[in-house]
Amino acid sequence: MTPPQAQIAILDAGGQYCHLIARKIRELGVYAEVLPSDTPAPHLASRPGIIISGGPASVYAPDSPSVDPAIFRSGAAVLGICYGQQLMAHLLGGRVAAGERGEYGPATLQVLRPDRLFRHTPPRQRVWMSHRDLVVEVPSGFSILASTGSCPIAALGDPVRRLWGVQFHPEVAHTEAGRQILENFVFDICGCRRDWSVRGRVAQLEAEIRDAVGDRNVFFFVSGGVDSTVAYTLCLRALGPERVSAFYVDTGLMRAQETEYVRSLFQSLGAEAFMVEEAGPQFLSALAGVTDPETKRHIIGEQFIAVQDRILKTGHFLDAQWILGQGTIYPDTIESGGSAKADVIKTHHNRVAGIQRLLAEGRVIEPLRFFYKDEVRQLGAELGLPNEFLRRHPFPGPGLAIRCLCARRRTAVEGTPNGFLIPVYSVGVQGDSRTYRPILATENPELAQEAAELINRDTRINRVALLLGSAYPLNSFSVFPAQLSAQRLEILRTADAIVRSLSASWGFDDRVWQFPVILIPAGVQDAPDSVVLRPVTSVDGMTADVVPLPAPLAGELTHRLLALPGIAAVFCDLTPKPPGTIEWE
Ligand code: XMP
Repeated sequence: MTPPQAQIAILDAGGQYCHLIARKIRELGVYAEVLPSDTPAPHLASRPGIIISGGPASVYAPDSPSVDPAIFRSGAAVLGICYGQQLMAHLLGGRVAAGERGEYGPATLQVLRPDRLFRHTPPRQRVWMSHRDLVVEVPSGFSILASTGSCPIAALGDPVRRLWGVQFHPEVAHTEAGRQILENFVFDICGCRRDWSVRGRVAQLEAEIRDAVGDRNVFFFVSGGVDSTVAYTLCLRALGPERVSAFYVDTGLMRAQETEYVRSLFQSLGAEAFMVEEAGPQFLSALAGVTDPETKRHIIGEQFIAVQDRILKTGHFLDAQWILGQGTIYPDTIESGGSAKADVIKTHHNRVAGIQRLLAEGRVIEPLRFFYKDEVRQLGAELGLPNEFLRRHPFPGPGLAIRCLCARRRTAVEGTPNGFLIPVYSVGVQGDSRTYRPILATENPELAQEAAELINRDTRINRVALLLGSAYPLNSFSVFPAQLSAQRLEILRTADAIVRSLSASWGFDDRVWQFPVILIPAGVQDAPDSVVLRPVTSVDGMTADVVPLPAPLAGELTHRLLALPGIAAVFCDLTPKPPGTIEWE
């Protein structure tokens, strides 16, 4: 894809949200590109706007990302976001300090001074925060534009030098007026013109696939997810069914009935070569005894490569005439630390060493690597993929393995004023860094609104789960040693199928973006596991809010799930992202 010359450059300071900013700007119809933070100012000449992204570092840390200070004198309008604001203040003579406990999640912003950046936005607005450090003194020439309860300098600006900064994240969906703020920056302040749309890109993408593939053929490992299916369909259309093969690896970690569903989908797309590779026992034995989430992810990634190598060796794919097609999209790259400075939060299976090797050999084609999920859905719609399929909830590559939590040893729960600390560890994300901590289980539904606040206050935890029902008191719970066994996976698969079917029949499916079901090894001797429900709404998986379960649905789900063998309790996860990730591992 040959994009237009970008009008907005996003300087990547290593934030989770860096590409999201670019994508939000593109959504406004303006092509934006992501560049390393230290790109020299002369390279940025002729761009009307520069945005410095957020990032996990502290401006005072050695080797923290920086920018060429000449960009502040280049005449381009500059907007610093989160770390970007701190860096701007720091480089121009202001002061940044470590916050007492950080601020992760929603906050109310009060605009203190009229400014073009906040034009057409309400004086009080909900914003999304994810930071520890904050600006405590603005550089000379700057004014404080807005504040929140725990962040007195939540926005700053020097309209004369055309420099602005915001501590919150205007690029995430949960910042109410975020789109308007970016629009103000891009159009009012920078004066950009509209030059970008996903619409009508299909023909161009197909031409580029033909160009990149040349006279070779492409084979895909498809998952039945939107990304790999859209990437596959683009190649199928560009090259014809005889030149594109699809392998579906049955990892044994998929949801109920998934293989049948994917097979019929690909048949309907016109696939001639669709093969199912049975690899369940291989994945399971490689995962035996593993509890650590990152180790699980690496093993699954390596097993995918092993299956791929096996297919390459035994079939005619050894021939250099074949290359690997992948449905990799932007966020996969960001969250794997693919953008140079991002902290690794979760390893995605399509970026492990084996795939990197193929990439280095130039034997991978990733037609969607510049697109975000919603852009991929738009492409899918243009390709004529069924709407029901495009609206399917995302499902992670490592499958049920990262929703089936394990533990090495027996540990008791611990009483706290707000509930019980259950030493089942799950992954979270705070201020762009990974956390791995126990959960707080509560019986108090009123804590639903306060989960993020509780986690900000208590650094021992990164998740809060509400008890929906149990036949046993929580103080009798323990965490039991548990493995990723076929038996536990089957319990999880059944629980997941129950949740999917009830959620669909209640019409709840359409109200959530994703609804993971997690099995945790916490319970009592006779019923050593519990089920956690995680219905969330999101736009792109980068941030997420919890969707409250309607009481009758929660009641029916609890009743059905408690009837499963070995299930002691049913919980509902109350944690937004950040500070909790959507998946538990
Ligand atoms: P987290 O848990 O990081 O998830 O908040 C964000 C979104 O990414 C999905 N996810 C994955 N998708 N391979 C995938 O294809 C993976 O390894 C993976 N891990 C998480 C997750 O389901 C959610 O939609």
